[in-house]
Amino acid sequence: MKLFDSHCHLDDEKFNEDRAETIARLREGGVERCVCVGSDLPSSRRCVALAEQYPFIYAAAGVHPHEAKDAPADYLDQLKTLLAHPKVMALGEIGLDYYYDLSPRDVQKRVVQEQLDLACDTDMPVIFHIRDAHGDMFDILRSRSRLPAGVIHCCSASAEMVREYLKMGFYISFAGPITFKNAAGPVFASQAVPLDRLLIETDSPYLAPVPLRGRRNEPANVRYVLEKQAEIHGVPPEELAEITFRNACALYRIPA
Ligand code: NI
Repeated sequence: MKLFDSHCHLDDEKFNEDRAETIARLREGGVERCVCVGSDLPSSRRCVALAEQYPFIYAAAGVHPHEAKDAPADYLDQLKTLLAHPKVMALGEIGLDYYYDLSPRDVQKRVVQEQLDLACDTDMPVIFHIRDAHGDMFDILRSRSRLPAGVIHCCSASAEMVREYLKMGFYISFAGPITFKNAAGPVFASQAVPLDRLLIETDSPYLAPVPLRGRRNEPANVRYVLEKQAEIHGVPPEELAEITFRNACALYRIPA
């Protein structure tokens, strides 16, 4: 089975002690490709460095809503340079997070709008992080004349909202929470996603799936997310592995 972890943070300091071993385990676990996603400029650069070091690791560069308040004045120029790197496949993660509110909401909205413009200008897909902010995100997306391709990562939207995102052409990705005991909401939302628009991810080191909940997560664990999705959608895991692999390659424009 070949797996594609569409969203991880291998650059995170939680991997500083054993990053090489973690990357070796990912290969042993059947993960043939993963995208290491940036949350600010320094982390985006670390993701690019990993992508340069390992052929099966790709990178995304972007400013997360948590970090929006600290984005330097020239962050768009710096991002543009990063996006030109041959192994940077997406702009992300970007979005709105009203659960933590670590940046003022008006700053979050400005920074997501600016990055959406950059994505359209550079023809790059985007990775969305949206938490407790789907209403404002829909307002932003509907008000735009141009939308990039993209994925709703670690989707927390209802089935109804998922259908709206699908209409806008986005892929939908679920992480470890889909395996949790109280996952009725995400399971219901996942059922609204046709298989050709579904991605799998770990968001590691965060959100370890059952049976590893609470521990540090890593890309090799993406198989637990795959197995749960296979059960939800009633397809063999091998088949869903192939479909989600193909979907991730299509979104990120990586030869399959
Ligand atoms: Ni993430």
